Amino acid sequence: MADTVQEIKSRLGILDVIRDDMQLKPAGSSWKGLCPFHHEKTPSFFVSPDRQVWHCFGCGEGGDLFAFVMKRQGLEFREALEMLATRAGVTIEHYDPRRMSQKSALFEILQVAQELYTKMLLSPEGVGAREYLGSRGITTEVIDRWGIGYAPDAWDRMSLELIRRKYRAEDIRTSGLVVPRKAEQKRHLDSLPFYDRFRNRILFPIRDLQGRTVGFGGRVMPVTSPSPSPTRRGESEHDEPKYINTPETPIYEKSKILFALDRARHDIRTKDFAIIVEGYMDALTAHEAGYTNVVATSGTAMTAEHVQIVKRFTENVALSFDEDAAGRAAVERGIDAALAAGMNVSVLSIPNGKDPDECIRHDPALWEAAVRNRQPFLDYIVDRTIAACDLTTVEGKKKAAKTILTAIAKLTNPIEATHYLQKLGNLVQVHEDILRSALTKSAGAKATTPPQASPHIAPEIRSRIIRAAERILGFLLKDRRTLTRVISRLTPAMFSDPRGVALYKALVSFYTQEATRDTPDFFSFDAFIAAYPEGKTYGNELLLRIEQEFPTMTDALVETEVRGNLVVLERAWIQSQLASITRTLALREQAAADDQESIRLMQEFTRLSEMLQHLDRDQ
Ligand code: CTP
Ligand code: MN
Repeated sequence: MADTVQEIKSRLGILDVIRDDMQLKPAGSSWKGLCPFHHEKTPSFFVSPDRQVWHCFGCGEGGDLFAFVMKRQGLEFREALEMLATRAGVTIEHYDPRRMSQKSALFEILQVAQELYTKMLLSPEGVGAREYLGSRGITTEVIDRWGIGYAPDAWDRMSLELIRRKYRAEDIRTSGLVVPRKAEQKRHLDSLPFYDRFRNRILFPIRDLQGRTVGFGGRVMPVTSPSPSPTRRGESEHDEPKYINTPETPIYEKSKILFALDRARHDIRTKDFAIIVEGYMDALTAHEAGYTNVVATSGTAMTAEHVQIVKRFTENVALSFDEDAAGRAAVERGIDAALAAGMNVSVLSIPNGKDPDECIRHDPALWEAAVRNRQPFLDYIVDRTIAACDLTTVEGKKKAAKTILTAIAKLTNPIEATHYLQKLGNLVQVHEDILRSALTKSAGAKATTPPQASPHIAPEIRSRIIRAAERILGFLLKDRRTLTRVISRLTPAMFSDPRGVALYKALVSFYTQEATRDTPDFFSFDAFIAAYPEGKTYGNELLLRIEQEFPTMTDALVETEVRGNLVVLERAWIQSQLASITRTLALREQAAADDQESIRLMQEFTRLSEMLQHLDRDQ
C-alpha cells in the first residue's frame, strides 16, 4: 500500500494535481494561490513541489497530495486512493471489486443510469420527449452534450436493469434512482423490493465538479403537444410536481451541488464572475448560447456551502431569480450567504418577468443588457425598499431606514457604507450622521467582534497589524539580534493574537536564559522548540512566511523591517488605548462619576496622544 501511494504521488506530482483545481503562481521555490479552504483576498496557500507538500498560512491546513484531495472533495482515504490510482494509471494491489467503496458503486450506477436514460430518449419510446425538447431548442446534439434522458412510463425499467447488472440491492436503494416498496405493496412473491423513482419524465443529469453524474432532475412531460411557452413555477401540467429530483445520497449533497458548475468552472475563473440562476433549463440554455459562466441552484436559495464552492473560482457573483415572492426571498438569502463569505454580490433583473431561458432564447441582447446592468446588492435592496415603503409617512421612513441600515451593516468597505448612508439620508431626509450612529448601535447590539478588536479598525488595517506582528516574531525566530532591537519597546500586550503573546513571552525567557551561556549569538529554532514545544506549528509557519516574503535577508533589511513593523504595532496599541480611554470617559460622563479619575484619564490620553505624534514624526 505504501508503495502504491508513493507511486501515485510520483506519477501525478502534487503541483499538477493542485493546479488542476485552482490557480497557482510561482513564488520562489514554491507556488502560491488563494487558499481553497478559507476566505482570503491575498494568497497564503503554498505548494512546495520539492517537498511534495502544501500548507496554508491563513488557516493552518496542510499536508500531502492525498490530504489535499481528501479535504477538497470530501473523500475518505480509500476513495481518494481509488480516484488518484485511476488517474495515475496505477493498479491498486489486491483490489477487490466487491470491496469497492459504496461511493464508487454509486458513481458507477448513476453513470450507467444516465447512459441508459439517454438511450431511451433517443429510442422510439422517447419521441414525445424529444419533440417537446426540440420545441424548446434542445437538439440531439444538445441532448448528447448534456446527457439528457427520458424515463419511460413504467415502474421497473431501471430497477430491473440495475439488478441485471448485479449491483448490490443496498447500493441500488441508496442511489436514489428507486423508491423502496412498502410491505403491503409487495403483492407478489417475486415483486421487486423497490420501484423506479422517475417515470415518464425528462431527466437532466446533475453532476459534481468532476463531471460525474450524482443525481437527476426529472421534469414532467407536458400534457398536450409541445407548448412554446412553458408554465411557470407552481403550476404543473399534471397534478404532479413539475420536477422530481434525486433525494440526498452519499454522493449527492444538494446544498453543495450547483447544476452546470462542472462546465462553468473554467469560464467562471477566466471571467472572474459567476451568474447564478434558478433552473436547469436556464443554465442549460445559457451555456448553449455561449454564456458559460452560468450555474443553477435548482430552485432553492444559494447556501453557504454553494458559496464556498463558487468561491474557489471567483469572488464575484450575480444572482438572477424569478420576480416572484419565492424568487425574491431566495435572492435575499443568497445575498446573505455570499456576503458572509466576503463575496461581491450583485442582482440581475430581467425585464417583464421573463426567466433567463426565455430571455436568452428570444432576446439575447436583452439578457446581455441585464447582465451589464446588474445592480450591486445594496442598490437592489434600496430599490425594493422604496417600492415597498411609503416614504411620505414617518412609519414608512422608519421601516425603510431599518431595512436599508441592516443591509449597510453588512458592508465591510467604509467608502461604500458612507455612499449608501448618504443615499439613505437623502431618501428619508435624515442627516447621515444620525443614521451612522443608528448603524453603530445596531451593529454593536449584535456584534461578535473578538475582545481585542476595536470596531473602528478597518479590516485592511487590522490585517496590517497582524502581519507586522508576524514579521517581528519571524525575525525574532530567525535572528537573535532582533530581540535587542525590540525588547525595550515591545510588550506582550501589543500582540493581539494570543499565540503571539505566548510565543513572544517564551522567546524573551528563552533568550534571557540562553544569554547567560557563553554563546550569545547562537540561536537555534530546534533548541527553542525543545524548550517550548507548543510553539512548533506557529513558529514553523512564521519562519516559512518571512522566508517567503524576504527571500534574501540582509542585515539592513532586517533592521528596517523590524523598525517599521515595530512602529505599526506601537501605533495600533496606542490607538486602542486611546479608544478605550474615550469609551471610559464617555461612560463616566453619563454616570457623573468622580472627577479625579476623569482627570487622570485625560492626562493619560494626552500622554498617549503625544507618543503617537512622536511615532508619526519619527517615521
Ligand atoms: N424545481 C424543483 N421542483 C419543483 C419545481 C422547481 O426542484 N417542483 C427546481 C428545478 O431545479 C427547476 C428550478 O426549481 O429547474 C426552477 O423552477 P422553474 O422555473 O419552475 O423550472 P424551469 O427550470 O424553468 O423549467 P421549465 O422552464 O421547463 O418550466
Ligand atoms: Mn423555465
